Amino acid sequence: MHNPNIHTSIIDLEHAISHTSDDNTITANYIDEEFYFQSNPKPSYLNQLIDTTKKFLSATENENNKKRVVLVTSGGTTVPLENNTVRFIDNFSAGTRGASSAEQFLFQGYRVIFLHREFSLTPFNRFFTHSTETTFLDYFTQGGTSINPQFQKKIIEQKKLYDTYKDNLLMLPFTTVNQYLWSLKALATLLNNKFCLFYLAAAVSDFYVPFNRLPKHKIQSQVENNYNNSLNNNSATNNDGKLILDLDPVPKFLRRLVESWASQAMIVSFKLETDSSILIKKAVQALKKYNHQLVIGNMLQTRNKEVVFVSENSNSNNNDNDINVEWIRINDSNKEVIEALIIPAVIEHHTQWIALQN
Ligand code: PMT
Repeated sequence: MHNPNIHTSIIDLEHAISHTSDDNTITANYIDEEFYFQSNPKPSYLNQLIDTTKKFLSATENENNKKRVVLVTSGGTTVPLENNTVRFIDNFSAGTRGASSAEQFLFQGYRVIFLHREFSLTPFNRFFTHSTETTFLDYFTQGGTSINPQFQKKIIEQKKLYDTYKDNLLMLPFTTVNQYLWSLKALATLLNNKFCLFYLAAAVSDFYVPFNRLPKHKIQSQVENNYNNSLNNNSATNNDGKLILDLDPVPKFLRRLVESWASQAMIVSFKLETDSSILIKKAVQALKKYNHQLVIGNMLQTRNKEVVFVSENSNSNNNDNDINVEWIRINDSNKEVIEALIIPAVIEHHTQWIALQN
């Protein structure tokens, strides 16, 4: 299920207005999560997103699924450098982890809300949409009247799965970090109970340009800027023609999610590192800092082969010996995707955790 009216990769013209900067306010408040939402506008489609989600939740709830829902976030968020966005900064993530995990949650009977970067990989379609060897039209025979026999088996297999599970899958897109954060906050209030799981695999920007400092129009290069100086003073280029970016930190919303937005739900965050010597340390730090239930650590280089689960023992006194560290690995002879091992293990954590709640 998806709402065809929600598009996130197009510019929201309603917000494409000019701004005057109030740097003092920003500096004083930049780490405050609530201030973020006061000063960065809500996406125009947010109410539609909420309505669609409410409908999905009420249409799919029944005794068999015991109300279990997972919000899977997937893909990278962008940070626009201009309001009429020509340039943006992106976070790395193809969406494989999220899309593949969503499939596994569906197989295990969860209803899945898939909050994903628009046009990144999606469940079941992911085998066909982003291939480096095959373009879309290659899937059809010469003349386009039927499916190319070379791909028939895989297409039929995935189409069957898709048709079986699609009613339990809600696809919601984001593109910018601002859209992601507003959506996460809105969805959290709808999913604030112990049967809900947050599986935060999206790669979320740590730095952004606050709305009141975002140039309205495309940043001009120095030559054009000199020529056009009276028309456009939004340029961030200096006299040497260098583009100087002044980015504020994005508040860590994990804290808000755990402490207030979805304090009754189970939260699983990811920790991505490129230096293996600090992975576990950083995952333990995240667990202690945000006080949620599970951190899944992964290395950029080996993320498809191994991950590490870091969680607290249920009888923990908050000391280091009470931390569980459990590696999940696939080897070359194992034909499964690693998410086929990760998700049952996550669900086991969820089941145990539900049993401990009142
Ligand atoms: O899509 P693939 O190509 O398969 O790659 C999958 C993946 C490597 C991107 C994925 O497995 C992964 O590790 N995702 C999390 C990447 C990430 O953002 O890590 P982080 O260390 O920057 O953030 C850790 C956690 O803090 C995240 O769960 C994030 O939701 C949260 N966060 C991050 C930034 C921010 N401003 N606020 C947050 O709350």
